[in-house]
Order: sequence, then C-alpha cells, then structure tokens
Amino acid sequence: MYSYPYDAVLFDLDGTLTNSEQGIIQSMLYALEQVGAKVPAGVNMRCVIGPPLMESLMGILGLPCEQAREAIGHYSRHFNREGMYQYTVYPHIRSILQMLRDGGVYVALATSKPVLPAMAVLNHFGLTHFFNRIITEEDNEKIVNKPELIRRALPERFGHAAMVGDRFYDVEGALQNHIDAIGAGYGFGTEDELLKAGATHVVPDTEALRAFLCPGATVPRGFFLSVEGLDGSGKTTQVDRLEKSLKEYGFSVLRTREPGGCPISEEIRHTILTTEHMEMCAPCEALLYAAARAQHVCEVIRPAVERGMLVLCDRFVDSSIAYQGGGRELGTDVVRQINAPAVGEMLPDATVYLNVDYRQALSRRHSASSLDRIEVESGEFHARVQAAYEELIHNDPKRFLVIDGQQDADTVAADVLDAVLNRLEPEIED
Ligand code: TYD
Repeated sequence: MYSYPYDAVLFDLDGTLTNSEQGIIQSMLYALEQVGAKVPAGVNMRCVIGPPLMESLMGILGLPCEQAREAIGHYSRHFNREGMYQYTVYPHIRSILQMLRDGGVYVALATSKPVLPAMAVLNHFGLTHFFNRIITEEDNEKIVNKPELIRRALPERFGHAAMVGDRFYDVEGALQNHIDAIGAGYGFGTEDELLKAGATHVVPDTEALRAFLCPGATVPRGFFLSVEGLDGSGKTTQVDRLEKSLKEYGFSVLRTREPGGCPISEEIRHTILTTEHMEMCAPCEALLYAAARAQHVCEVIRPAVERGMLVLCDRFVDSSIAYQGGGRELGTDVVRQINAPAVGEMLPDATVYLNVDYRQALSRRHSASSLDRIEVESGEFHARVQAAYEELIHNDPKRFLVIDGQQDADTVAADVLDAVLNRLEPEIED
C-alpha cells in the first residue's frame, strides 16, 4: 500500500489554504478609517495577514490598546459582511486535503484566527469536513500563542508530523513542538523569512506542496461537468460565472467548449457554424459535430479528467442528441451511434441544464448581433430541440441539474453554483 511521509499534517489557514489578502486588508483599512487612524508610513499592509489582530493593530500599526479594541469591532463587522467573501481557496488545496484524508493521514488546522471568522470561512468554502481537528483562537483578545495552538492541534500519538504555514510564527511554533515546519512560500511571508526561522522545507506553490506531502500518490480522477441549454438560455454568461466561482472555491477548473476546445475542433466549428454553408445536410452536420468531439475528448477532456481537473464544458453530446437528433430529426439512436466512437466512456458526471422555454430563448436571441447557422433556424426547430432535451432529462434525472433559467442572472448563478457544489462535495453546507 502507498504510504505518506507524514501521518499527521497541520495547516495554517490564511496564506496557506486560503488567499485572504483582499478580505483582510480591506477589512483592516475600513477599521482604521472608522477609528480615525492611518497606516503608518512604510508599513506594507500585507504584514497584517497572519498575526493575531491585536498584535497587528498595536505592534504593526501602532494603535494604543483602547483604539485597537474599538478597531477590532469594526474589523469584525466588515469581515463578516464583505471580507470573508473576498477570500479564495488556493488551487490544489482541495485535492491535497482529500488525498491526505483518503490516505488515512491525520489532518488538522491550527490558526490564529478567532473561532467565529475561522469557522465562517471554512464553512463557506466547504473545507470543514476535511479536518480531524480544528484549533483556533477563542476570540480576538485572549491570545494563545502559535506553539500552544499547534500543540493542541496535534493528535495524542503520531510518528512523523508537519506543520504547513506561510509565516515565521508557524515555523517557530512547529519547531518548538519538535515537528517538521513546511513553509508555504506562495503565502504572505517571504522564502527568506521562512528559511531564517528554520523551515525544514519551503514550497513555491501548491503543486509543489502536493508533491511534497503526497509524493508519488495518484491524483484522484477529476470531474466532468457539462452545461446545456437552448441558444439564448444565457449559457455563456452562466458558464463564465460558474468558472469564476469554482476557481474561488479552489477547484482546478479547465473550461472548454463544443464544438471546439482544441485547434482541429475549432476549425470544424467554423465549418459547421458559418452561414456560408447553408447547404450542409443533416448527417454531414451530425458527423462533423461528432468528429470535433472525438478530437476534443482525446486531446483535452479525457487527459484533464485523468489529471484530476474539473472539466467545465460548454455543451457536449447531449447537444448533438437534442439538436441533430431532435431539431434535425435524425433520431436519437442514430446520433448516439455516430457519437459512440467519439465519446467512448467519457460521459459527463453531471450536466447543468438551463431551463428556458424556446419562445423566450428566441426573443433573447433576437437582440443578439450576429446569429450562426443553427441559431437562424425556425421556432419549430428549437421547439423540437427543447422536447429532445426534456426527454434526455426525463431518462437520466440523476445526472441533470435542471435550473430555472428564466430568473434574473444573479439568482440563476447562485442556483447553478449551489447545485454544482452539492454534486461535487455534498459536505459543503452553504
Ligand atoms: P454555442 O457555442 O453554445 O453557441 P454560442 O457560443 O454562439 O452561443 O453552440 C453553437 C451552436 O452549435 C449552437 O446553436 C448549438 C449547436 N450545437 C449542435 O447543434 N450540436 C452539437 O453537438 C453542439 C455541441 C452544438
């Protein structure tokens, strides 16, 4: 069986698991403004990320104790309202935590953040379930030092443990507990700071962190997510928003589209969609979509899923079944057969369907500037496409995440994200 170098790994939060730069700095600037204080000349605001708040306010920003206390109240209010939502999870972190857990490694969090904001961030990003133990400060005033937080986060018994953190506090805390200190060089401290403090090893990015903590382990298979809908369902906008949100959650997203997604398939896309080819017959069209798909699956989708990526694909084989099978009336079975060699086993793990009635989709399309050869088709054509999609959904209700696409764009985006997160990690509570 594969064995990991450490049987217990502790992580710091800000600058190690999450990029909290904007969230923390903006909340701090707000707090300073509220108490009428200014950033002292020569102070880089990134220095306030990592230390406990009182220490940053008094030690780094030079506020007297009373003013610092008052500033903390303003900071917390701003953080809960806005700051927390400006966080992002670093790429690969989710897969590192998952791999360690799957490998039976004890995983804990040791952060100087007080319990409420720390838990709010962990819950918001659905990270809580990865940890065997979570140790935080109790509040902003009762400051326990980092070595003590690390001591509490360690399991009763362990063979070889490490603390991963981005500041010298984390390194010193680890060394005082006689465990390895791994410097997160991509965080808010410098490599120099980490090495001077005695880091056992410094990693430049989270990919290197994964290689260090899980050397030689196979990255778990990724996820294949497709998005479908009629022309005019708002699909492109929603795929943009979903891509952005999933990246903020730390998923390694590869965004692609059909027809297209790689040079050969993009060329085929042009051939299919140009209005210069109005004479193209339905079987030719169906075969070209399948040909573009074959190359796309082989060159992009399959390798990415095997590398552990979340492939977010704007349309896939369901589009062919709906448009060529239904719209062009070639029949679902014929289209499935044509696509069998292109798709192989590579069916989406989940498919978002933006449900917009074809009549509404049609009126939205009329406001678009230039329409392609499929979009210029009649209302009856799009009605048949819709009916074919409905049949697909009816026959495979588990795979489809049907979202009401007639709501305003923000509500649709929130519903799509909720449904997708639920499918990716049902443990995410938001
Ligand atoms: P899309 O890229 O969604 O259009 P746009 O970016 O212009 O909004 O899709 C291009 C068109 O191709 C669209 O009308 C649907 C059609 N299509 C099929 O008919 N069959 C297929 O297999 C695919 C993938 C798309």
